[in-house]
Amino acid sequence: MLSLNEIKKPIAAEIDVFEEKFKASMQSSVPLLDRITHYIVKRKGKQIRPMFVFFAASLCGGINESTYRGAALVELVHTASLVHDDVVDNSYQRRGFFSINALWKNKIAVLVGDYLLTKGMLLSLDHNDFDLLKILSNAVKQMSEGELLQVEKARKTNTDEGIYYEVIRQKTASLIASCCASGASSAGADAETIEKMRLFGEKIGIAFQIKDDMFDFGTDDVGKPLGIDIKEKKVTLPLIYALNKVSSSERKRIISLVKNHKDDPEKIGQIITFVKQNGGLQYAESQMQKFQNDAFDILNTFPPGEARTGLEQLVRYTTERNK
Ligand code: IPE
Ligand code: IPE
Ligand code: MG
Ligand code: MG
Repeated sequence: MLSLNEIKKPIAAEIDVFEEKFKASMQSSVPLLDRITHYIVKRKGKQIRPMFVFFAASLCGGINESTYRGAALVELVHTASLVHDDVVDNSYQRRGFFSINALWKNKIAVLVGDYLLTKGMLLSLDHNDFDLLKILSNAVKQMSEGELLQVEKARKTNTDEGIYYEVIRQKTASLIASCCASGASSAGADAETIEKMRLFGEKIGIAFQIKDDMFDFGTDDVGKPLGIDIKEKKVTLPLIYALNKVSSSERKRIISLVKNHKDDPEKIGQIITFVKQNGGLQYAESQMQKFQNDAFDILNTFPPGEARTGLEQLVRYTTERNK
């Protein structure tokens, strides 16, 4: 696996321009908003979504002015979704620092998330990027639906693997799919090619979230709290697999722990050990590989070259990364 900086090299200049646009698009004359957006910009994430936009555009005809706006829009939508997500998940850490809700409380985090989302939409509207706006609005809709489906399923302690994939397809994969589709669309690709890129992004997005869910059972510093999914009663793939494998009495015992752990670290530890002992992480890893392979199959229908190689490396990074 190459580092993100290595992967970024062919589009390093484009990423620099994107960062300027991203920063500028957040500006506000309201002092509190300005302080918070500065805080956000200083603690940037991996920026893999803009990278997908640029490589997809490059693969499908070439990067142009609207590609840059696409990259800024997806990162704005992503950032807004994280600010809201940390409210929904009661999470106090993001990218190794305090989350917005931890520092400014939920009220302000909700409003800031809305602000970022709207600034992204306006950036496209101001330039009549209607195709881009359509692709992204659809992703935003799916992300909200996915988050709500997840809340509903957490209340019922979902252990259905199919429902799990549906949740992550909506809440995470829809945005990465729209990165690839909007990159292709900005480059003037035809409808069939845009759809192929969308599907490629969807496979990667599912693999991306499986990886993220595996982190939750680990001990590595990934810049956000660990064990938080179980705390929030979110049953993800490793636990779903383990629960469906054991006797019904054992299954009942663990489900009861999930429902009634009351944040007791000992009980949460028991659930994590149960998952590990029953091969939950290996299973999740193998399912993630399947989605990755599907993505490679789609990618290989495109002509080889720098852009395809960039996407290949980004796919590998998605499944092999450690944060
Ligand atoms: C985190 O996404 C949210 C998920 C969809 C799991 P990233 O891991 O891409 O977040 P940053 O932007 O790098 O912090
Ligand atoms: C991912 O959800 C964030 C969105 C898709 C909006 P999670 O809650 O699983 O992600 P992290 O682990 O907090 O980043
Ligand atoms: Mg969440
Ligand atoms: Mg979260």
